[in-house]
Amino acid sequence: MIGDAATILLSEPKTPVSADTTPSPGGRRMRWPRHTLDNLGAYVPAVTGAKACHLPAREEVSEQLSMERLLGLAVFGEKVAARTYALMADLRREDAVLLRKFAQMEGKHALWFSQACAANGIKPDRSFADRELGYLIEQVDAHHAAGDFDALVVLQGFIVECLAISTYEPFIEIASKYPGMQEVFARALEEEKIHVEWVTRYLRERFAGRDAEFLALVERVNSQGVECVGGTLMNITEYLECIGLSGADCAGAMTDEYTKLLERVGISARLATRNVVSLFVPLIRKFRRREQTK
Ligand SMILES: [Fe+2]
Ligand SMILES: [Fe+2]
Repeated sequence: MIGDAATILLSEPKTPVSADTTPSPGGRRMRWPRHTLDNLGAYVPAVTGAKACHLPAREEVSEQLSMERLLGLAVFGEKVAARTYALMADLRREDAVLLRKFAQMEGKHALWFSQACAANGIKPDRSFADRELGYLIEQVDAHHAAGDFDALVVLQGFIVECLAISTYEPFIEIASKYPGMQEVFARALEEEKIHVEWVTRYLRERFAGRDAEFLALVERVNSQGVECVGGTLMNITEYLECIGLSGADCAGAMTDEYTKLLERVGISARLATRNVVSLFVPLIRKFRRREQTK
């Protein structure tokens, strides 16, 4: 039976669902559901003027645009994380109290980020976030519908939390010019580490002595998840660079975090490296081909 929070979050959007066919990171055309964030709530603060960055771009990439899109991903990504933990709580009664607490923490991160955006005249770009997060939400929904709790743990712990940690850390270092941002991202980062701690403990106990089974699960779940996050990293590279971050560094940090997670769950360094290479290298090759055919 699905609990109240998830029932609300899973309720059908009032507007009819349509779709566009934005090309996916891998080049195939993907059906992105519209209004996937409608039932997650929205926060729309005021916008101020923009400073131009000197980047060759298909669109005018300004610091303002970059912050609105990156913070859009952060705010709405946190809301998706809150929803995912609420859905996980519905699937596992034993840990439901803790998982609902995690959902509340993620919801607070979204609120803190929204408030920091408002204080800095940044309007989180919801439609951009909607396009980027649609594929992730589809995967979460599919695992939840299948009652696959372990897949949700892996997707949330290895992909979503890893991406948050690998982007929040460098952002905190360059965010001093935006009053209040450093504080809220640092607080959120500490809490993401608590979530990752639980994920690793759960998986270590669940798959103790069953490395092959665990790695098969990780590959099944993350081959989709990595592509989704990798595509987003590609799509935000210009925005990251515009505010003083490096997309390559964030991707590298994510690979490191991912490897460390595997090792903390109990996978040997050799197997962890082989797993990371098997997941990430095809993705990198795919992206390189796409770049060359632009
Ligand atoms: Fe969070
Ligand atoms: Fe988290």
